[in-house]
Amino acid sequence: MSRQTFQVEIADMGSFRARAGETLLDAALMSGVDMPHDCRSGTCGSCRCTVSSGSVEGGATDSPGDVLACQAKVMSDLQIVVEETPPVESFSATVKAIRDLSVDVAKVSLAVKGPFEMLPGQYVQVRFAGFPARCYSPSAPLEGPLERGVIRLQIKRVRNGRVSSALGREIQPGHKVKVIGPYGSAWLRPGQTNRLVLVASGAGFAPIWSIAHAALCEMPDREIVVVVGANSVSDFYMAPALWRLVAFPKTQVISVLRNADRRHPDLPVGSPVDHLPALRPGDIVYACGAPRMVEAVGAVARAAGAACYADPFVPGHGSAAGFWEPFARAVAAPLQMLRRSGARASTTA
Ligand code: FES
Repeated sequence: MSRQTFQVEIADMGSFRARAGETLLDAALMSGVDMPHDCRSGTCGSCRCTVSSGSVEGGATDSPGDVLACQAKVMSDLQIVVEETPPVESFSATVKAIRDLSVDVAKVSLAVKGPFEMLPGQYVQVRFAGFPARCYSPSAPLEGPLERGVIRLQIKRVRNGRVSSALGREIQPGHKVKVIGPYGSAWLRPGQTNRLVLVASGAGFAPIWSIAHAALCEMPDREIVVVVGANSVSDFYMAPALWRLVAFPKTQVISVLRNADRRHPDLPVGSPVDHLPALRPGDIVYACGAPRMVEAVGAVARAAGAACYADPFVPGHGSAAGFWEPFARAVAAPLQMLRRSGARASTTA
């Protein structure tokens, strides 16, 4: 007769019993083990853990051995490792400043009351008073130093969006905000030295920049490839950060124009997926942006045996942007210079 219950051991957290076919997360919570989680539907990635021995069914991720506990069904005795992340908490905040970074991305700075803690790449739920909650990934500053107690968001303006359309109108500096988090599994693991491949499209650059910034603070000569896509040259609002990246000795930036109608002589056209470096086992890949792009990056990473982390991101609608000449020049001129000098910050595939 097959066994009906199994023993699950979590490194440094104890053990619990699980019924055959029960999800790992349900079994843990029923036993009073507080595993990190949020959506319980396989979306947020907060419950990601590593199965070091035993077998589960379902819940697979792009990294071999890593599963989503809310989706993985227990099929044998298990040993698992749960990575420690800051606890999910609720904080009060106020809008400190709002500034347009491009025609459809706004920078919103929040002054948080209390010691808010999160890891580079995680995301938070933000509720501007009087508006529905939205999830955003805080970012490092594109320019200038980090400021303690400030959360920086890069928010894509969605046509008729309840929240993004109100930025700078009903939502002004001083507006009250509730921040809950942090969530997500696509955060930078400290202490690693493997090559990082960071892939972003549009405002998905926010967590990618946060990860790159933290990785370079930890190890300035780490090998990092950043592949970033935007619809048109004027959408490269992250140009100041790209400039900061190319100053590091082993960092390569590949900028890609997604819209073939808006060609630029120095920028390759296509999806960031078309311009990934050749991935290899040991690479650690992070992707954020349009779901189709993220999915495709995950498939390439999986085929190469690389680890891949990605959290959900819902793009806005109708983001047609006009050509912003001064900004376009600010992006294109450095790219031309880099190409002429043969620097590693190439924009070619
Ligand atoms: S709780 Fe499992 S993915 Fe969100």
